[in-house]
Amino acid sequence: MSLKPAAQNSQPLHQTNGIFLDSAYQGIGEAGWNSLFQQARKAHLEQFITDLFAGKAVNNSENRPALHSALRNLDKSPVLVDGKDVMPDVAQVWQRIEALCNKWIGVTDVIHIGIGGSDFGPRLAIEALAHVPDIESRGMRMHFLANIDTAELNRILQRALPHSTKVIIVSKSFTTLETTMNAKAVVKWLKNNGLTDSQIGKSLFAVTANVPAAKEFGVDQDHIYPFWNWVGGRYSVWSAVGLPIALQYGFDTFKEFLSGAQAIDQHFKTAPLEENLPVIMALSLLFQQEKHHIKSYAVIPYADALDWFPKWLQQLDMESNGKSVDRDGKPVKFSCPVVFGSSGSNAQHSYFQLLHQGTEIIPIDFIAVREPMSNLPEAQAHHRILLSNCLAQAQALANGKKTDNPNNTYPGKRPSNLLILPKLNAFYLGALLALYENRTTALGALWNINSFDQPGVELGKVLAKPIEAALKNDGTVQANTGIDEVTAARINLFNQ
Ligand code: F6P
Repeated sequence: MSLKPAAQNSQPLHQTNGIFLDSAYQGIGEAGWNSLFQQARKAHLEQFITDLFAGKAVNNSENRPALHSALRNLDKSPVLVDGKDVMPDVAQVWQRIEALCNKWIGVTDVIHIGIGGSDFGPRLAIEALAHVPDIESRGMRMHFLANIDTAELNRILQRALPHSTKVIIVSKSFTTLETTMNAKAVVKWLKNNGLTDSQIGKSLFAVTANVPAAKEFGVDQDHIYPFWNWVGGRYSVWSAVGLPIALQYGFDTFKEFLSGAQAIDQHFKTAPLEENLPVIMALSLLFQQEKHHIKSYAVIPYADALDWFPKWLQQLDMESNGKSVDRDGKPVKFSCPVVFGSSGSNAQHSYFQLLHQGTEIIPIDFIAVREPMSNLPEAQAHHRILLSNCLAQAQALANGKKTDNPNNTYPGKRPSNLLILPKLNAFYLGALLALYENRTTALGALWNINSFDQPGVELGKVLAKPIEAALKNDGTVQANTGIDEVTAARINLFNQ
């Protein structure tokens, strides 16, 4: 791999909507890029992109489209599912969200109950936008309740004021055990704090693709914000799942978030592969995978506001593409590497030792923001140091350093991308998330993987049921059809 300075490297720098992608440290020469674009064409990537936006059933195992792009299609141009334009329904939910934003007065706490795709997106956005200097915020305490572990529940219930709390239950399926059990516990807490059934009804909201189940749970029909089966859970922050963003920062900010994502969709849909940022990001990973058989990659945002971004990305990428068979059930040679990361420069003081000198090559996406995230007098000076660290790490990883002492030698040739956002606001946050969503689905297309189902999460859920029943028993458990010998022994340990 020959690493040249950006100016000498082909395909080094690309730009859309003020966002730069610099792939100079990927060490992919002109011939390398040409062959990657050829490979993409051979894999019918352009056709996949057309089919994705046209609402074709790209989720072939469930025979559904994946139309999260419709949720940020602010122009409302028709998007057809089974011959019906879905945009009027989408727009109606926007209207309802806006109306709700204007209605909530005197609310001190919001408890958002949901897990996985019903949690990461809004949690990341609420956290990230809280750092935007001068952002207008309603100042409600936003609590995210995901884990069935009562630690989170306990912490939230100790802080929230029951008489001025609103509860949003967010679940595409409305059958997720963590979510329904947590929701029941929160409703009980409201009751125990003296709220009448009618007051509880006024406090309870739901966001779901399973409206009958939400009604059955006791949520008033007018308080249910639907989304649809053609939206994957991990791609759903653009739907009413993102309600907390609108409630806390206003509907206009929510629209800006959608509009950033829409701008990237437009780019993904129309830019030639050679200029297409999500495609170039996908192809750079593919190159390192084919060349070095990489097993993992890291995403390091040099922005504390994006500390939740790697967690959001882990579900997006690994739940979408962490598969061993392709769309036709045939074994794949490559699929999703493990993705990990956390904000820089903190990450430098943690696992960067391994990134520089470990035995594995781990490609990195560095994400930098041009403007500092505060108005403090120290902001510019600190920000220069933050950026210099980001640039220095990429250079050190690429070029390495030879010394006579093997212990002090840096092998170099460790590839990275640099993504530069002009600033971090709702627009660029939406754009960043959509860049990665489109990159994930482009990678799925390149590997011929269906990025929109997640059958691998089911088995554990099924097995947990008999195990839970056995944990309730005080007698000794024997291995049986649902519980093997190792697990039976473990249950007996817990039951001692
Ligand atoms: O873990 C599997 C999963 O189905 C994810 O795909 C999803 O984001 C999460 O559970 C929550 O699902 P739901 O929104 O249906 O509660």
